[in-house]
Amino acid sequence: MTADRYVPSREDRFSFGIWTVGWQGTDVFGTAIRPPMPADRAVRKLAELGAYGVNFHDNDVFDFDASPAERDARIAAFRKALEETGLVVTTATTNLFGHPMFKDGAFTANERDVRRFALAKVMRNLDLAAELGAGVYVFWGGREGAESGAAKDVRVALDRYAEGMNVLSQYVIDQGYDIRFAIEPKPNEPRGDILLPTLGHALAFINELEHPEIVGVNPEVGHEEMAGLNYAHAISQALWHGKLFHIDLNGQNGPRYDQDLRFGAGNGRGAFWVVDALLAGGYDGPVHFDYKPPRTEDDEGVWASAAACMRNYLILREKARAFRADPEVIAALEAARAGELTVSTLAPGETWRDVRDHTVDATALGARGMGYEHLDQLALEHLYGVR
Ligand code: GCO
Ligand code: MN
Ligand code: MN
Repeated sequence: MTADRYVPSREDRFSFGIWTVGWQGTDVFGTAIRPPMPADRAVRKLAELGAYGVNFHDNDVFDFDASPAERDARIAAFRKALEETGLVVTTATTNLFGHPMFKDGAFTANERDVRRFALAKVMRNLDLAAELGAGVYVFWGGREGAESGAAKDVRVALDRYAEGMNVLSQYVIDQGYDIRFAIEPKPNEPRGDILLPTLGHALAFINELEHPEIVGVNPEVGHEEMAGLNYAHAISQALWHGKLFHIDLNGQNGPRYDQDLRFGAGNGRGAFWVVDALLAGGYDGPVHFDYKPPRTEDDEGVWASAAACMRNYLILREKARAFRADPEVIAALEAARAGELTVSTLAPGETWRDVRDHTVDATALGARGMGYEHLDQLALEHLYGVR
């Protein structure tokens, strides 16, 4: 029997949100189908499966209304599990969406008191994140949005959103925390329309902040695909801007509700290009999964799906590497003049004057095929396992 090549190790730097395996299956049509999962149990099971790190919301570890003593006890249990397993806290975030008070958003809620409390809640968890060694802090503004056109002046809401990010950036700087922020875009759900709906919106928003240098993005596969967008292109552009601080990998079947399938399920062809783009782009953060084990699964199914996220990544990584090393692929890339794109359009020292009167054989250029079908078929054959 050959050794299993798809067993994760710590070097692969796989991480999971505590809320992923901990999701109890509560949805808009049904109640919980799995018991609550204490954060320390999630840590121990993920460590057994070969994960490297975890990400947590404050309220994945302790309840919103926990007493100070309960809060301390839950954090102590979480910390003990981390120490005993060697799992790392790569990332942290805040639950600014679960409590009824956040029904109209957190940083962009019309009610000022909600906004002030939201900032306090984040700062409190930033202290814990810093203590536990998290390097990235995620901002998913799931409730920052509206269903009604008149509910919110979007320009003013963006002022408040930026204000919130600026206050928190200043907090991290003043406290001397080694933490960077990552905004996670999503087009809709739970709000009818969410602010900063796509990666492009988030990148543009970051440029308007007081400390853009510490703010990047945390794009999620399903969220870009819900908007009909190409996630591999999204992360490539984020890398180009130097803003890919974190990733949320999962699976999605086209523009519909947020499916949060395990990574590799849903758009499998897209997942192949995601891994290829991550390998090519030099992403060096945690390989983080944000998915939800479907409601059909019991505890065993939860761990089967978590293991499958990592396994699918390793399978696709092997396939992406084999694709790039395949001599026929190299030849097809050459035939498609892929390398020529790296040559700048103007030579060093040239200006617009040198191309102002450039002439070409337009007919010949127009007639020449690119050979992309052959190239893409080679990729599919690697993915389908026949090469
Ligand atoms: C979603 C989101 C959330 C956030 C997470 C961090 O599926 O809509 O991914 O899961 O990533 O809650 O705040
Ligand atoms: Mn999602
Ligand atoms: Mn996510």
